[in-house]
Amino acid sequence: MLVLHNQTFIDRDEAVVDIEDRGYQFGDGVYEVIRYYDGQWFLLDDHLDRLQYSLNEAEIDFDVQVNNVKARLNDLIEHNHIQDGGVYLQITRGVAPRNHPYPDKQAPTLIAYPLNLKRPLDDQQNGIHTITAKDFRWLRCDIKSLNLLGNVMTKQKALNAGASEAIFYRDEIHVTEGSSTNVFIVRDGTLVTHPADHYILNGITRRYLLNLADKLNIPYQIEVFSLNTLKQADEVFVTSTSAEIKPVVSIDDKKIGDGTPGTITNTLLEHYFDDINITKLP
Ligand code: PDD
Repeated sequence: MLVLHNQTFIDRDEAVVDIEDRGYQFGDGVYEVIRYYDGQWFLLDDHLDRLQYSLNEAEIDFDVQVNNVKARLNDLIEHNHIQDGGVYLQITRGVAPRNHPYPDKQAPTLIAYPLNLKRPLDDQQNGIHTITAKDFRWLRCDIKSLNLLGNVMTKQKALNAGASEAIFYRDEIHVTEGSSTNVFIVRDGTLVTHPADHYILNGITRRYLLNLADKLNIPYQIEVFSLNTLKQADEVFVTSTSAEIKPVVSIDDKKIGDGTPGTITNTLLEHYFDDINITKLP
C-alpha cells in the first residue's frame, strides 16, 4: 500500500509518526473519511469543504486548495489501484517540541491512505441494535477532530452491551448523534434530526439525506428531540460515510416500530444505492 505523506508517496512500512507530532501528543488535528464507489468519488468536494472548515475552526494553518489535496487524492487512488473503498485523510498541526500553545511556525502533517470499506449490506437488511449513552464529549463536535476518546469509549460500551452503535444524549431532552454517526428519527411521516450546531458533526451523509428528502418530498424538521421521542419514534436510522444509512431496530433493548427496518428508511436506502454515482451535493 502507498501512503500519501504531505506531497509524496511512501510505502506503508516506511510511514511512521514522529513522537513530537502534535496529532499524536495532543490529538491536535482533523480528519476525513471519504468513500470511493466503483471507480468514482462520492461527495469528495463536500468532504474537502468540511475539511477546510475543521482546519479553520481549529486554526490549523493549511489550505486544502493551495496544497492540491484533491489532485493528490486522485493520485492516491491511482497508485493503489482502488476501484471500490475509501480514503482516510488527516492533517495535524505538525511536529514541534511538546508545549501546549501553537508553535510559532506551523508545518502541518498530512497523511492519507486507502481504507478497505465494504458495503454494510447485512446491517442494512436486518437493522442494528443500539444503546443510549451520556454525551460527555466536548462542545465543539462540529470540528472533525482527532480527539475521539469519548467516541471510542462509548462505541466500546455499545459493543460490550451486544449492540453496534451508541446514541448520545446530553440530558433526557437532548439526543445529539451516534458515536460515529448522525441520528434520524421518523415521526408521523416526518424526518427529524439534530440541528448542525456545535453539539454534532454536520455529517456529509446527513446533508445528503436532507437533500434527498427534499427531492422525494419527504417532510423534515431540524430540531432537538428527547430520549423519549427517540424511543417512541416510528423509525430510527443512523448515517455516515461508512455506515451509509443503517436502520435501527432496537434501542436499549426496546424495539423500534415492529423491530424491522422501516418503510421510509428503506425508501431512502434504495435511493442512496441509485445515487452512489453522484459527485457533489446540490
Ligand atoms: N464518522 N458523527 C460522528 C461523531 C462521526 O464520527 C461521523 C463520521 C458522522 C457522520 O459523518 P459523515 O456522514 O460525514 O461520514 C457523524 C467517520 C465515518 C469515522 O470516524 O469513521
